[in-house]
Amino acid sequence: SDSITVGELAKRMGVKANELIAELMRQGSMVTINHPLDYESAAILAAEFNHEVENVAFDEETILEVEPSKEAEDNVEDLEVRPPVVTIMGHVDHGKTSLLDAIREANVTEGEAGGITQHIGAYDVELDGKKVTFLDTPGHEAFTAMRARGAGVTDIVILVVAADDGVMPQTKEAISHSKAAGVPMIVAVNKIDKPDANPEKVKQELTEFELVPEEWGGDTIFVEVSAKQQTNLDTLLEMILLQAEVLELKANPNKRAKGSIVEARLDKGRGPIATVLVQDGTLKIGDAIVAGLHYGRVRSMTTATGSQVKEAGPSFPVEVTGLGGVPNAGDTFHAVENEKAAKDVSHHRQSKQREIDLSRNSKVSLDQLFEKM
Ligand code: GTP
Ligand code: MG
Repeated sequence: SDSITVGELAKRMGVKANELIAELMRQGSMVTINHPLDYESAAILAAEFNHEVENVAFDEETILEVEPSKEAEDNVEDLEVRPPVVTIMGHVDHGKTSLLDAIREANVTEGEAGGITQHIGAYDVELDGKKVTFLDTPGHEAFTAMRARGAGVTDIVILVVAADDGVMPQTKEAISHSKAAGVPMIVAVNKIDKPDANPEKVKQELTEFELVPEEWGGDTIFVEVSAKQQTNLDTLLEMILLQAEVLELKANPNKRAKGSIVEARLDKGRGPIATVLVQDGTLKIGDAIVAGLHYGRVRSMTTATGSQVKEAGPSFPVEVTGLGGVPNAGDTFHAVENEKAAKDVSHHRQSKQREIDLSRNSKVSLDQLFEKM
């Protein structure tokens, strides 16, 4: 079903079958008119004749089960409360990383205390038995990429503004990203321990962006904190949990996992390593997955505190090994029925990508040609 004969391809392209056979011969394969070509070979051959081939037999969405209609099919009784996914944003040096580190330090159970040095770009924290997942995105790239793909990863944004510096360009950028994504913001006015801290000025400046504190008649939560002295971190976490309750975040853990790639890299010893955030379903060891252009089987899953787990449910970030290549931050991942399905989707995406790259290259060379004229 996923192939086409040389004759049929020639007919659809409006060229003589002999021309295709001749081209294939030039490429080193001796074939007859009835020779079946798989999608990839057909696409490459057609490209030689400036034709594009669309693989209509290949229905990625069915394999991935990602039609929006199917998502709506979750029965209400299958949905369970999931932890909020919180992204910390703000201007350079306003203390995003320090704040995250402080929150982690203050909330890591004793047994895990030794293991928190690891940086996986995302981690979970527990407060009074309730979990919160934090995304540590250096800069805004990952957040933007994820938003662009409609992944809707983030439930709440913590906007960090240094009390001694006030609203800066990347503060504004973070505000517009969050607004565009429709994500509620909690403002953390940081560095209040500094002698020149002026939290009132920060509040004043933020009213311009419709972020008005409750005591001034608005509905934005402001928490004055010091990452350095660990001041008011509990209040910040409480506010996050409160906001999460209002949002009524739920997901169905009893189905195949899907989610987003937070970051990924190539490790010399362990191969491609991806930090994934499960958004729906449960990811398990041995699952066949497709992530961006790549596929594989989940070989290991490691949490932010370094422990190995066999399963990761909704909102949980884990480091996954077993992929054949390194996906991009912001790519989606899906667990699929088996490795064959994962491979098919991955190959389909790769050949599509190759076509895009090819057409881009030919366009560039055309442009260059015109430049020279
Ligand atoms: P980028 O990742 O580069 O955008 O910076 P960041 O927002 O993550 O800031 P980071 O946490 O690296 O902190 C920047 C500097 O501010 C460091 O020197 C911190 O020690 C300092 N800092 C962070 N929080 C506080 C605070 O609450 N009080 C004081 N006095 N200094 C702080
Ligand atoms: Mg940082």
